[in-house]
Amino acid sequence: MTTDIHCHILPGIDDGAKTLEQSLAMARIAVEDGIETIFATPHHFNGVYRNPAAAVRQAVEELQQALDAEQINLKLLPASEHHLVPELIDALAAGTALTMGDFGRAVLVELPVHNIPLGTGELLEQIMAQGLVPIIAHPERNSMLARDPERLESWVGMGCLAQITAQSCTGQFGPAVQGAARQMITGGLIHFLASDAHRDRRRIPQTSPGRAQVAEWTNQAVADLIGKEFPQRLSAGALPDPQELLAVLPGQERRSWWRRMLS
Ligand SMILES: [Fe+2]
Repeated sequence: MTTDIHCHILPGIDDGAKTLEQSLAMARIAVEDGIETIFATPHHFNGVYRNPAAAVRQAVEELQQALDAEQINLKLLPASEHHLVPELIDALAAGTALTMGDFGRAVLVELPVHNIPLGTGELLEQIMAQGLVPIIAHPERNSMLARDPERLESWVGMGCLAQITAQSCTGQFGPAVQGAARQMITGGLIHFLASDAHRDRRRIPQTSPGRAQVAEWTNQAVADLIGKEFPQRLSAGALPDPQELLAVLPGQERRSWWRRMLS
């Protein structure tokens, strides 16, 4: 069993599930894939959608009741996918922006698709100064990070974590994204594999195909750690230990990563 830490399953509040029926269909797909817990991560501050903490908690409670009524064995946790903007810092401090699972440990943040805004590193530092660990959502889908993964490496070096999208690994977003995913995973820069599902078709809540691809690129231990164990631990409010990942990463990549870290 596993946990999906990034999923737009809540109905009608962002570009994810449109209706309760679609949310329930997504939930059934997730359960079929062995997912027992989902962090519901609607967009917040992305310029289109605003979903403050109270609204997400309420939506999670309502969908959980519907899941229970349908006897779908899936647990939801409240969270958000925050666009990394200056006002996020105050919102986190004020408690109006959700941490992962409301545990007060980690925050899922996304960058724009095509660039890395000036001040991104400073915003990440300001989140960390509040005692929170930023989890960078799908860095492989940011075209600048895909070309220059050393930026991601520097953020991971300062204590950030990163989440890759399962369908990036299996090629649904094209060869460039898939190549970036592979490079980031084999470089030890990725701590979570998640679905980032939006629908009950195409972008679905399924992580096992991505996990199989990660195992092919690295080994089963890495796939299990980022595809199952670290997400499961986060669902219990515990953060992953990046050293644990580096310890099972195939040798060549690990050595080069450390060389760069130490240089
Ligand atoms: Fe997302």
